[in-house]
Parts: sequence; structure tokens; C-alpha cells
Amino acid sequence: MLAAPALRLTGLTKTYDAVGGRFQALDGVDLTIADGDFFGLLGPNGAGKTTLISAVCNLIRLTGGEISVFGMAHDTMAARRAVGLAEQDVNLDRFLDVEETLVYHGGYFGMTRRAARARAREMMDVFDLRAKAGVRAPALSGGMRRRLLLARALMHEPRLVILDEPTAGVDFELRIELWRYIRRLHAHGTTILLTTHYLEEAEELCREIALLRGGRVIARDTAANLRQTYAADSLAGVYVKAMAA
Ligand SMILES: Nc1ncnc2c1ncn2[C@@H]1O[C@H](COP(=O)(O)OP(=O)(O)OP(=O)(O)O)[C@@H](O)[C@H]1O
Ligand SMILES: [Mg+2]
Repeated sequence: MLAAPALRLTGLTKTYDAVGGRFQALDGVDLTIADGDFFGLLGPNGAGKTTLISAVCNLIRLTGGEISVFGMAHDTMAARRAVGLAEQDVNLDRFLDVEETLVYHGGYFGMTRRAARARAREMMDVFDLRAKAGVRAPALSGGMRRRLLLARALMHEPRLVILDEPTAGVDFELRIELWRYIRRLHAHGTTILLTTHYLEEAEELCREIALLRGGRVIARDTAANLRQTYAADSLAGVYVKAMAA
């Protein structure tokens, strides 16, 4: 039997009801991401990337369509546990210090306190936050908050890691460190879903890429095949052509 895909989106639609009117952010998205893939979701501001991710992670209600995570309905506890999300907006509890942020998250995902503590120490080492273990989120630098967000996403060892613009505002060193670590996770079987506006980053890291525009998937392939399809010599060239079409 074939392994269930890490993610399967079928006919996903999302209409926001907001002051000033309704807005359709996702317009029938079908997308399958294989177990073990390193997948890049690219598109301009407002394309619907964060909306798609928020739907997968049960942060917003769907207007229509279905989502399964490793073959499980996305709103089940098991599916939730399988996913780790580092959100685009840094949302940290201002009253918790670095270590508490990580340990509480572990507890929330069913880890024992002992396991959560050990894992938190490991994550603080990976993200160079050990010296800030007792510091609360508002007293961290912007880049450190981003590191903590990433560490928190990985705390419960999710099989699918979703990174929504993880390198926005991150210094050169952490960027290199982060990708080294994410690559290692991927090599050990973790599925990665990444959004980024750094196209070279996506081109180098991702095995497959989907281009999203106006809430629709307009292309989906490997970077090499996309370059061929769009007769471009880089992913940036593909992007420009695809978005202009
Ligand atoms: N809560 C909301 N209420 C109303 N409209 C929303 C809401 N959240 C998002 N939108 C709209 O949905 C569209 C898609 O937004 P989304 O955040 O998914 O884009 P994105 O692809 O992640 O963009 P970016 O690259 O800027 O992060 C935008 O037009 C946005 O204004
Ligand atoms: Mg976004």
C-alpha cells in the first residue's frame, strides 16, 4: 500500500467575511504533498499562502473543500499532533520565558514534563537560545523571537513541519543554521512545507514547488521542470513569467 500523502487538499475554498465585504482568498485549491517531500509554496503578497496554511492547522474555518494530513482528517487530534507550524506572525505569550514557552507547548502536545524539558534544552541549543532561557518574549530581539517560534514548532517532533516565511528578518548566520537543521530533519523523513519570498532559497531547497496566485495554484512541479516549462533559466524567471501570464 502506498503511504498516505503528508497533505492532501481537495477543492479548498476560503471566503473571508470582513468589514468592507467578502473576500475569496482561496478559490478551489487541489494540492497533494507526498510524505517526505520538501515543498515550496510561492506567490505574491495576498496570494493565499498563509490562508492555506491556517486552514491546514485549523486556525480558520474552511468555506469548502477537504484537508487530510497523513490520511487523517485535519481537525482530528492525531492530525494536529502530526503538524508543527511556525507562523508568519510571531505570536508568543508575553508572560512566558523561552524555556516555559517550549515546555508548555510540549505539554500541550501530550509530552511528559521530563521529555518536554529535555527537548526544550535540545531546541534551545539548536537555535542558540540557551543564554535566554529565562527571558520573556518581549525582551527578546526580533530574530530571537523568530528562533523561538521555530524551536516551538519543532518541539513535539511533528512529521510535517510548516514554515511560513521562516527567514524573514533572520540574520545570515541563523539562515544558514536553520537550513542546515531543516535539511537534516528532512533527511530523517520529516516533510517540509515552506513559504518564502526568497526564490533562490526555494530553488535550492525545495524538491517541488507550487505557485499560487489569486487563491489558485497556477503551476506545480520541480524547479527544473518549471524552468523548462517557462523557458526560464532560474526560478525567479519562472515566477515573473507565471505571474505575468
Ligand atoms: N482575516 C481576514 N479577513 C479578511 N481578509 C483576509 C483575512 N486574512 C487574509 N485576508 C485576505 O486574504 C488574502 C490572502 O491573504 P494571505 O495572508 O493568505 O496571503 P499570503 O499569500 O500569505 O501573503 P503574504 O506573502 O503577504 O504573506 C489577502 O487579500 C488578505 O487581505
Ligand atoms: Mg502570508
